Amino acid sequence: MPHDPVTVQAETDDAASSTETTVVSGIQPSGQLHLGNYFGAIRQHIALHDQHESYFFIVNYHALTSVQDNALLEAYTMDVATTYLALGFDPEASHLFIQSDVPEVTELAWIFYNLIPVSRLELGVSYKEKVERGMTPNAGLLNYPVLQAADILIYGGTLVPVGADQKQHIEMTRDLAQKFNSTFCPDDAPLFPMPEPLILDDVAVVPGIDGQKMSKSYGNTIGLFDEGKTLKKKVMSIVTDSTPLDAPKDPDACNVFALIKLFASDARRAEIAANYRAGGYGYGHAKKELLGMIDDYFGEARERYYDLKDRPDYVRDILREGGKQARAQARAYMARVREAVGLVTTYE
Ligand code: TYM
Repeated sequence: MPHDPVTVQAETDDAASSTETTVVSGIQPSGQLHLGNYFGAIRQHIALHDQHESYFFIVNYHALTSVQDNALLEAYTMDVATTYLALGFDPEASHLFIQSDVPEVTELAWIFYNLIPVSRLELGVSYKEKVERGMTPNAGLLNYPVLQAADILIYGGTLVPVGADQKQHIEMTRDLAQKFNSTFCPDDAPLFPMPEPLILDDVAVVPGIDGQKMSKSYGNTIGLFDEGKTLKKKVMSIVTDSTPLDAPKDPDACNVFALIKLFASDARRAEIAANYRAGGYGYGHAKKELLGMIDDYFGEARERYYDLKDRPDYVRDILREGGKQARAQARAYMARVREAVGLVTTYE
């Protein structure tokens, strides 16, 4: 039952059963966070952040591949942090920070560039998609998965909670860890662990209002803290077929039901599915139900979000502290990496 924090905890704990677990994950500050980000990733981040050693970062270097406006990048960066705190992230229990506060990741990425063929990077999903659409991808986009591997491995990450669209990136991360270890480390002393993705089946791909994967770049998102008219307009525009109100309907073929499933308890979900099948229950009814569920689910967090938005210095202090701790860890790892590679360091 995806809405239940206890179940999320159990599922994530299953995946994170080792005492050596280090949870890492990142999120791009490239626009308003949406239901796909939340159910696919952030909810698992919040469920795990106080259970294990963990690092959650706002990947502003990655976002540069698409956001090239300094005021926007800064605003989106602060927005991600504010959202995590509003959703219950406890900064005392884990590290929440900005990627560029640990510039060592770019150094590790540079080392990794030398361990992966360009032809492999050309198979990257986002890169390929741009090429296929006739666009000219920048070198940042081509190299994006290598920086992501550095993000994960520089903290010794072993478990990476993400949505299904990140699967390929975690595979590349594993390959880079393996390649680095076999190239530079003795067999019995590998430097990097093999990270595992944590992708929960029922939320691996959250659909948007048009039924495709919910994504900022498709313009089909419902924002986490959308409310009032904006929220209503989006929910009412979810694409449905033209089955008449009286006719029975298949819940599993309906975009509205796909979103209802994210919020409803098992019992409520079964009831609504039965309503669909019985007929006399229209898509308008389902949309109204969904609207109420979104409002209830995020209402309190939304209030905290607006409260925190008025306290940017507080949010910045948390990010600064998280960055300091993460950087100390990254530097310690990089000292070992440099030694393994043979990069002579002449300073203390
Ligand atoms: P990003 O910023 O696109 O998305 C953040 C997280 O949200 C998940 N997600 C979804 N899950 C299910 N359904 C959807 N419709 C949906 N849309 C987004 C994503 O899978 C992701 O987990 N490359 C990453 C950021 C990154 C990262 C990392 C992640 C950089 N370094 C290191 C993990 C570890 C990205 O672009 O996510």
